Amino acid sequence: MAEKKIQRLGILTGGGDCPGLNAVIRAVAKTAMNDYDASVIGIEDGFEGFVCGHMRELENRDVSGIVNLGGTILGTSNKGDPWHFPEEQADGKIGIVDASHHVVKNYKRWGLDALIAIGGDGTMNICSKLMGLGLNIVGVPKTIDNDLMATDYTFGFDTAVSVATEALDRLHTTASAHHRVMVTEVMGRYAGWIALTAGLAGGADIILIPEIPFSWESICRKVLERSTRGKRFSLVCVAEGAKCPDGGEVVKSFDVKRTDAKQLGGVGEFVARNITEKTELETRVTVLGHLLRGGSPTAFDRVLATKFGHLACKLAAEGQFGRMAALQGAEVVPVLIKDAIAKLKLVPPNHAMIVAARSLGTAFGDEA
Ligand code: F6P
Repeated sequence: MAEKKIQRLGILTGGGDCPGLNAVIRAVAKTAMNDYDASVIGIEDGFEGFVCGHMRELENRDVSGIVNLGGTILGTSNKGDPWHFPEEQADGKIGIVDASHHVVKNYKRWGLDALIAIGGDGTMNICSKLMGLGLNIVGVPKTIDNDLMATDYTFGFDTAVSVATEALDRLHTTASAHHRVMVTEVMGRYAGWIALTAGLAGGADIILIPEIPFSWESICRKVLERSTRGKRFSLVCVAEGAKCPDGGEVVKSFDVKRTDAKQLGGVGEFVARNITEKTELETRVTVLGHLLRGGSPTAFDRVLATKFGHLACKLAAEGQFGRMAALQGAEVVPVLIKDAIAKLKLVPPNHAMIVAARSLGTAFGDEA
């Protein structure tokens, strides 16, 4: 048993869910219970639950047998930013208020020595502000988008890419059978990591990502060129955040309760419609959406999540707050949360995957 510096450790999962969250919860809780004889307090539904005081002590049996389980046993929410908290007003309308003092109150009420926050850039930004109010926090990076700085990978990304790749493989055969242009829209928010990686793995002919502006002429030329060469089908993998030549990202809806009000979605349909109008080729669209976030994590994500959770608990126990577990090369190391949120990690246009894909004939819609 290590020297006992923490007695009560809070844990929450914030933002959109992703495969591997339960593997982190398990690793944090088991390390805390086994190595530090500490109690673990689960906070339900992310910061929304923290503001409202929805918390419960976790037992060993709560975290047993969940390494392979998708979702999160704690629940999560992307509408609980304590500084942007939706609250019903006297007139029945939803107002946005600062509820951060409730978080501090509940942290103290439950006698927490530290909080492990598992989340993406939104969660880490909130953590950084809560540390300013005196909370001891250690972060664990999660998001299928892989857009968090200071870590090579977030857990959840590998699973999302595997699901998208399998979908592309399946779409490939039906595209070829019917001589169609199949457009597949994947998540990723403002970063193109999922589209690029799955597109490369699934042999997409065209990959459209937010970081590379595309033109209709360029993508239409590519599909027509393929069809005159006898390749009468094409696979297009488009990131939901790809920017259309005649506008910005395609936004499905706005929700003021979210920190980022924009809900992206619909670019696949837009791309397909333009290809059909401009080339007369037949197109079909598949939006993978939340399929990329659901279900069991891959072995890679389970192992990464477990290493992250173990390190995060150790950092909390050692009083190394303000840090986040990160993957750098083959090592899981602590980094400063402030370095992780300095800016979004976007795909560099000269990334090795892009260079290789271009050499293989994959188009990005910017070719002259
Ligand atoms: O950040 C993860 C993510 O899945 C993004 O890729 C996507 O834009 C967003 O969350 C969708 O959020 P929601 O679950 O609110 O639809």
